Amino acid sequence: MAEKKKISSVLFICLGNICRSPSAEAVFRHKIRQHNLFVEVDSAGTQGFHTGCAPDERSVQAGEARGYDFGGLKCRKVNEMDFEQFDLIIAMDDSNLKNLQRDSREEHHHKIKLFMEFSSFEDDVVPDPYYGGKKGFEYVLDLIEDAADGLIEHIKRS
Ligand code: 4NP
Repeated sequence: MAEKKKISSVLFICLGNICRSPSAEAVFRHKIRQHNLFVEVDSAGTQGFHTGCAPDERSVQAGEARGYDFGGLKCRKVNEMDFEQFDLIIAMDDSNLKNLQRDSREEHHHKIKLFMEFSSFEDDVVPDPYYGGKKGFEYVLDLIEDAADGLIEHIKRS
């Protein structure tokens, strides 16, 4: 039987890469440091309309208030090499998941997972907060923090 490969890189994906996935990146970087794990972490969007932009100010404000660092994060679009390079590609919602599967080769589909698979919350997806209010950004962080804890445990078991 082939040996299971240890997970050493994770890419978080949402639509715009300015709200959910950079928040997941910031939260996850913080948690892997706390757990003394060495995991490469990045984020990207399925769309490139905000390429080069910093994360949304509302995500940054909500995240920084909880102690997360968004310094240096810049929006980019997911590309073909990402599917080769990353061990896990984590989608925030079903639409992200479908787009990632559509744009990648079948041999890489096993790497693509919904973030909320790792959460103890009943929610299936991390909802898009972009057109909503402050509460939505707080809830996104609640979901991300919980799913990130589950993903840490999954990586430790890998
Ligand atoms: P994200 O949120 O996918 O969590 O980064 C969005 C950001 C921008 C847009 C939609 C969702 N937009 O339509 O510009």
